[in-house]
Amino acid sequence: MSWKPYREHDTVLILNFGGQYTHLISRRVRELNVYSEIVHYHQFDRSIVEEIKPKAIILSGGPRSVCEPNAPRVDSWILGLGIPILGICYGHQLLATMIGGEVKRGVGEYGRTRIRIEVRDTLFEGWGDEEDVWMSHSDYVASLPSNAVVLARSCETGYIAAFKLIDKPIYGVQFHPEVVHTPRGKKLLENFVLKIAGCRPTWRMENIVDKLVEEVRSIVGPSDKVLCALSGGVDSTVTALIVKRAVGDRLVAVFVDHGLLREGEREEVLENLRKLGLNPLFVDASKRFLESLRGVADPEEKRLIIGRLFAEIFKEIASRDPSIKWLAQGTTYPDVIESGAVPGADRIKSHHNVAGLPRELGLGVIEPIKYLYKDEVRKLALALGVPREIAYRHPFPGPGLAVRIIGEVTEEKLFIVRRASKIVEEEIKRAGLYDKVWQAFAVVGNDKWVGVKGDARSLGYIVIVRIVESEDGMTADWARVPYEVLDRIARRITNEIPNVTMVVYAITTKPPATIEPC
Ligand code: XMP
Repeated sequence: MSWKPYREHDTVLILNFGGQYTHLISRRVRELNVYSEIVHYHQFDRSIVEEIKPKAIILSGGPRSVCEPNAPRVDSWILGLGIPILGICYGHQLLATMIGGEVKRGVGEYGRTRIRIEVRDTLFEGWGDEEDVWMSHSDYVASLPSNAVVLARSCETGYIAAFKLIDKPIYGVQFHPEVVHTPRGKKLLENFVLKIAGCRPTWRMENIVDKLVEEVRSIVGPSDKVLCALSGGVDSTVTALIVKRAVGDRLVAVFVDHGLLREGEREEVLENLRKLGLNPLFVDASKRFLESLRGVADPEEKRLIIGRLFAEIFKEIASRDPSIKWLAQGTTYPDVIESGAVPGADRIKSHHNVAGLPRELGLGVIEPIKYLYKDEVRKLALALGVPREIAYRHPFPGPGLAVRIIGEVTEEKLFIVRRASKIVEEEIKRAGLYDKVWQAFAVVGNDKWVGVKGDARSLGYIVIVRIVESEDGMTADWARVPYEVLDRIARRITNEIPNVTMVVYAITTKPPATIEPC
């Protein structure tokens, strides 16, 4: 489904040069209620400008150096479009070279850096004369042509921190306004998007429900049915509700129990979905999944087996009803960008619900929320009448507890991870932290630790507790949970689960680690 349902909203086009903060720029723009789209610089040409009709263009940061011979570039015709442009970090340096300036290797500025505003401009409205910003660069803009003016400089190095063309709304900033470590960064983006580019802030979730429903209705034939697999999570629930509004009873909602669900999850999800009027077809495939996973220790193999079984089940359902012509999926924007992103990028994990599934099913694919971020999906859920507890439920991976069990999935490890995860969730909720963290769960592997329980020596499993903060799951930091909460979690896990002797807390960020262990 390649529709672009949001084109009546003013759009900011973000040219992606591979920077780790590109999604953050995009989300910051959307937080201003302005629609944004990310386009990889490789795929950018005039036809994209004609199609998207952006009101502003932002050039992202990136890991390369504009001094390299094959550095990522964009043609200089964009400077003549008459559209406001803002270059950030790499984008700032690229713009400088495009207008005839010079970029050199410098001493590097990393982290918090103080800058001084030298020339007052709309871009810096609401900024003091000196402010802290977040820098991450080694190249710097060494000189600018006479048609550009330096707006700000780093206090320590004197490097150009911001510039503007005299006769055009074209700007470069060396720092990252999109990160929270630039305290007035949001204000700068607001100045650029709303004041300089004049974008109208019409992008609100309650405004797009009807449009999404209409789009689904327009592509699904009048007697076609749409299959939608539900997990109980917010993405698939919202997807199903939109499809339901569009095609009514021609939605075939399915909830598969793969035997890898959390404690009490099957009953809870079924009840929630029924309350929302989704009445899913329930498939208990737990035996089938657990048998197929027996003896399999490799994480990627486990994921592929689970993905294949899901596909088989959907195929069986679709083969029983020839009017099922479509598969609705809760793919979100980061999945879309990541899966089509940098050519040759490594596959980190086979997220089965993104990779591959639909084509082999022979069904058309409907992805109503594919341009939305998680926080937008949550707001959309509220607009669709989904209760807050479901809209703000933590993400839970499609392959379920299998990705929280290191090595083979056994009944014993499944029991441990299920119980321990429940304890982690309960304690996080009790401490009022559930809504503050992205995910909180337990993991178990094969390693054992010698313990003393009731004066007797025992050998038990090690449970890893992982609690992370994240904005979109693409980067994450471990949550600084109070010691008392960690203490309660650890005590409960070792007291309530007989064969666990040690609890550890995972304190590695993403990157380098991923959030789920497998
Ligand atoms: P990782 O482990 O890749 O996870 O850092 C990032 C986010 O994605 C979730 N995740 C999945 N979600 N199917 C899903 O629907 C999957 O196969 C899958 N694997 C990881 C993970 O829980 C985290 O929020």
